[in-house]
Amino acid sequence: MLPPYRIKVVEPIPFLDPQQRREALADAGYNPFELRADQITIDLLSDSGTGATSAAQEAAAALGDESYAGARSWFRFRDEVGDLTGYPHLLPVHQGRAGERVLFTSLLEPGQLCLSNTHFDTTRANVTLAGAEARDLPSPAAFDLDSADPFKGDIDLDALAATLTGPERDRVGLVLITITNNGLGGQPVSMANLTAVRDLCRAHGVPFFLDAARFAENAWLVGQREPGYRDWTPRQIATHAFGLADGCVVSLKKDGLSAIGGLIGLRDDDLFARCEANLIATEGFSTYGGLAGHDLERLAQGLREVVDPAYLRARAASTARLARLVNEAGVDTVQPAGIHALYLNAGRLLPHLSPAEFPGHALGCQLYLDGGIRCAELGSLYLGGMDDRHRLVTPAPFELVRLAIPRRVYTDTHFEYVAAVLADIAKEPGRVPGYRVVSSPPLLRHFKVRLAQLPTGGGSTD
Ligand code: F0G
Repeated sequence: MLPPYRIKVVEPIPFLDPQQRREALADAGYNPFELRADQITIDLLSDSGTGATSAAQEAAAALGDESYAGARSWFRFRDEVGDLTGYPHLLPVHQGRAGERVLFTSLLEPGQLCLSNTHFDTTRANVTLAGAEARDLPSPAAFDLDSADPFKGDIDLDALAATLTGPERDRVGLVLITITNNGLGGQPVSMANLTAVRDLCRAHGVPFFLDAARFAENAWLVGQREPGYRDWTPRQIATHAFGLADGCVVSLKKDGLSAIGGLIGLRDDDLFARCEANLIATEGFSTYGGLAGHDLERLAQGLREVVDPAYLRARAASTARLARLVNEAGVDTVQPAGIHALYLNAGRLLPHLSPAEFPGHALGCQLYLDGGIRCAELGSLYLGGMDDRHRLVTPAPFELVRLAIPRRVYTDTHFEYVAAVLADIAKEPGRVPGYRVVSSPPLLRHFKVRLAQLPTGGGSTD
């Protein structure tokens, strides 16, 4: 499966020796977010803003019009996004969470409910900051990590219908579907599910929005997995998905193939007026919204490139190949593989570690210590409940590690290296030590938490 591009500009990657990596991780308080990028060989922390741009994007950026209002670059961006999404009102924002803040503070009333297949963490935080309650209603299929169910990203329609008709029905202010479902294994949402959500929301007069950060990857997986869409292009599927919803909020740092950017798409005139006033006060005028003209140009071109079937096919195949190599090495991953990330089942690989010793975090740290690979834990360190002495009281349902795959950045050779490092860990998992929390901030723990390594027999080293 050949990628439809060749590499023209490269950046050196650092190689540290094992002793340097041990020191770097200890200095970082065993928190990979505190590492410096020049201490990392393969960075799989996020697929957000980390992709490579194309020659055509950089050529477009040179034409960026930086006029304060009404810039040419805005009209190019607006026409491209308008054509893709069909929304009559578009507002640019500097990244996804800025769009969430503008939309939720303009749309949600304090005390209302926002229902989702799964809120991303900033999305949940912005719903909460608007005074509303974020509630996840994931498909029950998502809780079987090993099943091959093609659409584990769906919302649970029975639970949605029950909430829309039950005692809390008057509280529901928004239904927000995240495509693909980043919080639950990067799994796609089917068009059948989106259509049913549209019908339910229409019947109950509730706005239906998409959190469409990975709209093109969702479209590709729909084309591959959902009967009836085999002959559609990814772009046609994406446009159809946007067409089902009343609006969208999008981080363009993923499928916009750019380092920065986001947008809000809307149909409702009044809501647009409220969002626009909010945007001008907090992000920037409505023809740039916190972005430079050159960013808008890169995005307009990136949104064309991202729906190219040859690009999506090669990217999906590359992730699937990494999944196969990792599975053959004895490490289980959430099935079936999505596109933007691989989710490793650390709880199963490291049964000698209890959730209170953070097996997901332990595996992430080991990948750094052994191979200079950085990734993110999605387990009890991130999601668990802790007491005020930082001891785990409520474990997360699963102990996962996310290997996020930047777009157009690493080759299959890099991924073979990642699989080889994991294979070595899988040969002797008992050597991976657990961790305990030393200090933790009250909010967004995973970014600033500091930990200490436990000796492999249990107990703390410091
Ligand atoms: N929604 C989803 C589904 C996301 O994955 C993200 C970001 C956001 C919203 C927020 O967008 O970062 O542009 O403000 N996800 C990144 C990640 C950070 O690593 O998964 P943003």
